Amino acid sequence: HPSNHQMEESSILKRAECRAKGGAPGFKVAILGAAGGIGQPLSLLMKMNPLVSVLHLYDVVNTPGVTADISHMDTGAVVKGFLGQQQLESALTGMDLIIIPAGVPRKPGMTRDDLFNINAGIVKTICEGIAKCCPNAIVNLISNPVNSTVPIAAEVFKKAGTYDPKKLLGVTMLDVVRANTFVAEVLGVDPRDVDVPVVGGHAGVTILPLLSQVKPPCSFTAEETEYLTKRIQDGGTEVVQAKAGAGSATLSMAYAAVKFADACLRGLRGDAGIVECAFVSSAVTELPFFASKVRLGRAGAEEIYQLGPLNEYERVGLEKAKKELAASIQKGISFIRK
Ligand code: NAI
Repeated sequence: HPSNHQMEESSILKRAECRAKGGAPGFKVAILGAAGGIGQPLSLLMKMNPLVSVLHLYDVVNTPGVTADISHMDTGAVVKGFLGQQQLESALTGMDLIIIPAGVPRKPGMTRDDLFNINAGIVKTICEGIAKCCPNAIVNLISNPVNSTVPIAAEVFKKAGTYDPKKLLGVTMLDVVRANTFVAEVLGVDPRDVDVPVVGGHAGVTILPLLSQVKPPCSFTAEETEYLTKRIQDGGTEVVQAKAGAGSATLSMAYAAVKFADACLRGLRGDAGIVECAFVSSAVTELPFFASKVRLGRAGAEEIYQLGPLNEYERVGLEKAKKELAASIQKGISFIRK
C-alpha cells in the first residue's frame, strides 16, 4: 500500500537523520555541483570515505537521481540531496568541509580563463552561502579558473567578515597527480612511489612542477625536463582535446579531489604531518595567492612551506608563472570590488 510505504520511508529517513545528528563519528561534507562530470564520481568516492559521516549533494539540476543512486551504497555516510538555489543554505548548514566543482568546463580551444564570466558568478553565489551558513568550514575550490576563483572567494568572505585564509584552498592536486604519473613513466617506477611538488597556480605556465625536488631524488636531462614540464602544464588540454567537446578531466579530477579532501579531513582529525600542494593565501612570493606545499591541520592550511632551492629552468618558469598569476588574481579581486 503506497501510504504505508511512504510512512515506512519517512521513519527510516528519520532514523538515518538521527544517526547523522547523533554524533556518528566522522565529518560532514557537502559537494556543490554534485551532479556534474566531476561531481558524480567525486560523490561516489566520498561516500566510500570512512572519515565522512554525512554527505550533502547539492546541484541546480539532477541531484535527486544522483542522491538516490549513491545512497544505496552500503558505506557509512548518510547521503542527502539538495536541489536548486533555494536549498543551498540547508545543504551548507553544519558542514565541516565544502567541495566545489560547480561551473562549466572547457571545450577544445578554450583556456581556463574563458570560463571566468560564467564561473565567477557561480562561485560568488556559493561563497555568499558559505559565509552565511558555515563560515568555519574548510573550502576546497575546484571551479576554474582557480587562479581567479580563489581570490573571488576570499573577497566574498572578507566582505562578509568571515575570511579565514587558512580555510580557503584552491585544488591543484590534479597537477600533482599528473606530475607523479608522468615522472614515474619517465623513471620507469610505480607512480605511488613518486612525489613531485607543483607550485604556482592552476593554468598553463602558472603550473610549475619542481622537477629538481622530486622524491625519490633523481635527475632529468634538459629534454626530459622540457617534455615533463610541458606535459604537466598541458595535461588538462590533453584531456579536453581527447574528449573533443564533451568536457574536461572529470574522473582523474574526482580522484585528485578525493585525495585532497581526504588529506584535509585527516588534518581536521588532528593527524600529524599531512602535507599537500594547494593554491592558498601566501607570503611565499610577492603575490597574495600562490600554490605550494601546505601542512593541513585542525585549522586548515596551518603552515605554508617556502619553495626551496630552484634550478635555473625553474627560476625562469617562476617569473613567467608570477606574471600570468598576478593578472588572474587581480581579475578575480576586481570582479568583487568593482
Ligand atoms: P560539468 O558541467 O560536468 O558539471 C558542473 C556542474 O555544476 C553541473 O552539474 C551544473 O549543474 C553545476 N552547476 C552549475 N551552476 C551551479 C550552481 N550555481 N550551483 C551549483 N551547481 C552548479 O563540469 P565538470 O566537468 O564537472 O567541471 C566543473 C568545474 O571544475 C569546471 O569549472 C572545470 O573547469 C573545473 N575543473 C577544475 C579542475 C582543477 O584541477 N581544479 C580540473 C578539471 C575541471
